[in-house]
Amino acid sequence: MMSILLTGGAGYIGSHIAVELLTLGKEVVIFDNLSNSSEKVLDRIKEITGKSPKFYKGDLRDREDLDHVFKNENIESVIHLAGLKAVGESVRKPIEYYDNNIGGTTILLEVMRDNGVKKIIFSSSATVYGDNTNVPLKESYEVGKPSNPYGWSKWFIEQILQDLYVSDPSWHIVIFRYFNPVGAHPSGLIGEDPKGIPNNLTPYITQVAIGKLEKLGIFGDDYDTKDGTGVRDYIHIVDLAKGHIAGLSKLEEEGINVYNLGTGKGSSVLEVKDAYEKAVGNKIPYEIKERRPGDLAEAYCDASKAKEELGWEAKFDIDQAAVDAWNWQSINPDGY
Ligand code: NAD
Ligand code: UFG
Repeated sequence: MMSILLTGGAGYIGSHIAVELLTLGKEVVIFDNLSNSSEKVLDRIKEITGKSPKFYKGDLRDREDLDHVFKNENIESVIHLAGLKAVGESVRKPIEYYDNNIGGTTILLEVMRDNGVKKIIFSSSATVYGDNTNVPLKESYEVGKPSNPYGWSKWFIEQILQDLYVSDPSWHIVIFRYFNPVGAHPSGLIGEDPKGIPNNLTPYITQVAIGKLEKLGIFGDDYDTKDGTGVRDYIHIVDLAKGHIAGLSKLEEEGINVYNLGTGKGSSVLEVKDAYEKAVGNKIPYEIKERRPGDLAEAYCDASKAKEELGWEAKFDIDQAAVDAWNWQSINPDGY
């Protein structure tokens, strides 16, 4: 039987995709260097699905390690999630980010080509819209100037995939631009497990709720938005994972296709805080702070292209994400 290779499959998003794939009876191979994840996730995936993904510990930039996977396994397509993703860290360590994200991707593409595997789904980000603030964001818009090296790495990789397709139209390529993934699997067995102090809003909130952090800092309340705080498109991680299942059927066609994966709805920081307070059953202490450099007032998508072409749309709202995130955090106060 043919397998689907998940690079970075031990991470937050990849582990949820693995669960959806295994539940559908697909064979899954995970390749991950565990730089931002734990091997324990593999047992949790087995606990949920009753099946184990195959696991190879390795780094994308190690051509031989990667080639070994393609030689050893019957890989039909790749979902390429591996990458570094911390915006602030990317400003301090641009070389490491470009090397890992872009260098890792070009080696992956080379090894795929050399092994005759030409189907890939790539995890891009709303960050490629950069300073294009014309919400709701549509795939047909010009991408904008990202405000940090992480964002540029996604932008460049999208361009590399476009150039690859021009050079060889027998590739099958789907680019997903994720908006803000939140929540956890309803089992509470897998979820987001950031190392150190979380950069992102929702893991910060659950760590305040569990008493690890004192209070939430809200980065600015003077934006031109419904309540002055930043607005984002928060998508439940299970919806996001199911988007990839829908993407696999598109991957049967030659071509390169770009889709937003979001809900199409914007929520403010205060609205997110309120949803989590409801789920937790307690107030989340907070203070208003300065705006965070590089942040936009609003970023949410037009989600209609994925609905029309893939038959996929998000089903869960921020309230459900809050319930599932809190369930995960309370069962696993220290993560994996
Ligand atoms: P994550 O850090 O939980 O998962 C990424 C995984 O890749 C980790 O398990 C890490 O160990 C692995 N990895 C990193 N570099 C590697 C390398 N060189 N070789 C092998 N493995 C490597 O992050 P995530 O939230 O699951 O994100 C997955 C993908 O989605 C990333 O490409 C990220 O940029 C993208 N994305 C994430 C978000 C988000 O907010 N979570 C938003 C948009 C896009
Ligand atoms: N925020 C706070 N306090 C916090 C953290 C965040 O008020 O402690 C606010 C931010 O200012 C923003 C919103 O909450 O208004 C969401 O912030 P996140 O850091 O959770 O998410 P971003 O939208 O800033 O970043 C996400 C991804 C990045 C990606 C970016 C642009 O995490 O990888 O979208 O697409 F680059």
